[in-house]
Amino acid sequence: MKIGIPKEIKTNEERVSLTPGAVQRLTSEGHEVFVEKSAGLGAGYTDEEYAAQGAKIVNSHEEIFEISEMIVKVKEPLESEYHLLREGQILFTYLHLAASRELTEAILKTGVIGIAYETVQTPDGDLPLLAPMSEIAGRMAPMVANQYLMKPHGKRGVLICGVPGVPEAQVTIIGLGHVGLNAARIALGLGARVTAIDKNPAKLRYAQDLFRGANLTTMSSDPQNLKQALKYSDIVILSVLTPGAKAPIVITRDMLKLMKPGSVIVDVSIDQGGAAETSKPTTHIDPVYEVDGIIHYCVANMPGAVPRTSTRALTMVTIDYVSELAAKGWKRAVLENQALARGVNVAYGYVTHPAVAQTFNMEYTPLNRI
Ligand SMILES: NC(=O)c1ccc[n+]([C@@H]2O[C@H](COP(=O)([O-])OP(=O)(O)OC[C@H]3O[C@@H](n4cnc5c(N)ncnc54)[C@H](O)[C@@H]3O)[C@@H](O)[C@H]2O)c1
Repeated sequence: MKIGIPKEIKTNEERVSLTPGAVQRLTSEGHEVFVEKSAGLGAGYTDEEYAAQGAKIVNSHEEIFEISEMIVKVKEPLESEYHLLREGQILFTYLHLAASRELTEAILKTGVIGIAYETVQTPDGDLPLLAPMSEIAGRMAPMVANQYLMKPHGKRGVLICGVPGVPEAQVTIIGLGHVGLNAARIALGLGARVTAIDKNPAKLRYAQDLFRGANLTTMSSDPQNLKQALKYSDIVILSVLTPGAKAPIVITRDMLKLMKPGSVIVDVSIDQGGAAETSKPTTHIDPVYEVDGIIHYCVANMPGAVPRTSTRALTMVTIDYVSELAAKGWKRAVLENQALARGVNVAYGYVTHPAVAQTFNMEYTPLNRI
């Protein structure tokens, strides 16, 4: 198969979809791999390293889309890329369709086979292609929030770990999946007091076992508990998810009044539309804004700030699926691999993921009818 690796064009997105090592595997399996010039530079990989593994270096963004039967990307296509996609072409990337009706309608019009990393789901419910980026974003969340507790960047002027006689900062984490558990790990490591909230009691039990003896309290996700936690928090990390669907709103605008002035919300769920009513996507160049005195950090591609780590972590989990799609073609691959079938969000202009269809009140077409 002809596989294309374009350069990412989203602001400050320095990740690339596959490392030279993964390209070596694909070329040795008999595929042709095209890499856009400089695509890997942000992650530290030169064109020469890709060429040495058998890739052909292509000068233009347009040409990559034109040549390739499968495009392997990192982020969703931007407006300037919509017209480059074509019917029957495979697009394998983070799509996050539920966050944007405009993107969903545009992608449907192209007729592309859109397979979203974030909804590839194994029978036990795990999201293997979301997990490593969630681990990274989760680990980053307390670190970025910490900057905004300090006066040069923020308002509260609080030292996250406190000192003898002065208490540590309070971090509340809502949603204890991959992001939330990793955020808890780092927040505890930085010396904060952590309250972890989830609607699933099993997640709360797991967190308590994992962090036994640490400065962690768990609470179930009911409105009273949420309000109480907001009152005493310096940092709130939002990391809830309903796979494929728009993020549930757990903080309404009214609830901001309960929070301490200058406290920080990191809405990691922003890539699925955001879990605070007042969240809107921001970029690494201009990551924060304020609403009612509360600092909001809503960067939708947090792992893009650590492209070297993220590219390696992403490739580690995507390469087997890329290889399977390339070897079998998408139809046979999804027939034989349930996890991959759950990743197909759109095909030939039909919405093939129930949660995406439900989010936009669109018609859902099961894959076996395509
Ligand atoms: N901004 C970024 O750069 C970035 C990077 C990676 C992941 N993400 C996003 O972070 C979010 C979380 O990802 P994840 O991998 O941790 O998901 P996950 O499925 O592992 O965890 C989500 C958790 O949220 C809980 N939850 C769902 N609804 C809830 C509610 N109303 N109240 C309390 N808990 C609730 C679930 O029980 C689950 O434990 C996703 O939207 C993902 O796309 C964003």
